[in-house]
Amino acid sequence: MSESDSQSARLSVTALGHRGEGLISYGDAQHYLPLTAPGDELQVEFTAGSPKNWTLMQPGPDRVTPPCGHFGACGGCGLQHLSDIFVARWKAAQIARALHHHGIGAVDIRPTRTVPAASRRRVGFTARMISGQTILGFQAARSHRLVAVEQCEILNPDIAAALPGLRLVADLLLSGDRRKKKSDVRIAVNDTDTGLDILLRADGIDEFAILPPLTERAGGLPNLARLSLNDTLVMCPHPPVMRFGAVSVTPPPGAFLQASRAGEMALRGLVLEALGEARRIADLFAGCGTFSFPAAAQAQLVAVEGDEAMVRALDHAARHAQGIRKFKALRRDLFRKPLSADELKPFDAVIFDPPRAGGAAQAAEIAASAVRRVAAVSCAPATFARDARLLIDGGFTLNWVVPVDQFRWSAHIELAAEFTRPD
Ligand SMILES: C[S@@+](CC[C@H](N)C(=O)[O-])C[C@H]1O[C@@H](n2cnc3c(N)ncnc32)[C@H](O)[C@@H]1O
Repeated sequence: MSESDSQSARLSVTALGHRGEGLISYGDAQHYLPLTAPGDELQVEFTAGSPKNWTLMQPGPDRVTPPCGHFGACGGCGLQHLSDIFVARWKAAQIARALHHHGIGAVDIRPTRTVPAASRRRVGFTARMISGQTILGFQAARSHRLVAVEQCEILNPDIAAALPGLRLVADLLLSGDRRKKKSDVRIAVNDTDTGLDILLRADGIDEFAILPPLTERAGGLPNLARLSLNDTLVMCPHPPVMRFGAVSVTPPPGAFLQASRAGEMALRGLVLEALGEARRIADLFAGCGTFSFPAAAQAQLVAVEGDEAMVRALDHAARHAQGIRKFKALRRDLFRKPLSADELKPFDAVIFDPPRAGGAAQAAEIAASAVRRVAAVSCAPATFARDARLLIDGGFTLNWVVPVDQFRWSAHIELAAEFTRPD
């Protein structure tokens, strides 16, 4: 490489891209630099036309001191150097952009509701043996490297308190000869209303041999409700229970839950607002009933979900529930076999909360149906906007969107929205 391949330039960050990385222009090219902020003045070193290093010369107006010592190394919180106010506005602007991309403008995007720090109740860790030591942590940004979690600003106190115990449990699975394959151990933690529901995923483990020492070691985990290893229940000092409205649900191990209680409450309030006075509701992509049971206090409801274990949990909870109207849980793959416009006839409103891929086939059926109200929740503005286009083309109006920032300090965006159409 010749000397002329290396160059240096003082450049300003002009915007934040959709992945939360700062945008710089150099010559005719544009580049995204992680961990930079709009308005930052940088001295950037280029090699063969690509930025290799940068030095912050003058901070942008929205830059703040990141609270976590792992910032920059850990891939979890790429936006900790930006103020909450900036991130709230940026997330709202990202939603507006996605909608605009599908020709949807002039939408009432209301102020972002940001959850407090230390409120994450659902989290996935990776544990790996490195040089004879068990490391428990999060994936580094843009790499397979693991960053040990000693401190974490997003975890709620119960999960944070369990970190040393989780590391000991992972150490048992990673050391010794009980595994044919020494691959990573994945740990999914749901902090339920009655304690931690922990699911360990370890390939090639001799479950029979590991159970006695695992049970002993897990005894040291604070506030444990249930521990599972792959498909095996290891111990359950008391059942993990989530209270959704007036109904108690025991979710299956590793079940989907909204990422924080504060986020769930914000989304739930918005969903109920969007449902209005509806009396017959279909909850599509219902999970374990986060919105189904609160909505079923006032309306007959059919909850449709693709995961069999979650449908069983819904059904069991409904059978033992008081204070809800007529309720049915149905298993269905809504990608392959969406509820048709005809099947939607009995309903005056729909809750629509698909995974990141969205639910285009289902949105098209809602558009073709006689349903009058849609309470939408989404964790992916791009697919939300695509599905919104289908609903709007079917005669719906998008009345409002509220960003709910429950993935604090990350570029992930959650939102709730209301669609209605006249009788
Ligand atoms: C974003 S979560 C929402 C769950 C629930 N509304 C809540 O707030 O807890 C999406 C749900 O869709 C379910 N799901 C994913 N793919 C599906 C499919 N093809 N058909 C039906 N449900 C599916 C997942 O199991 C998950 O429970």
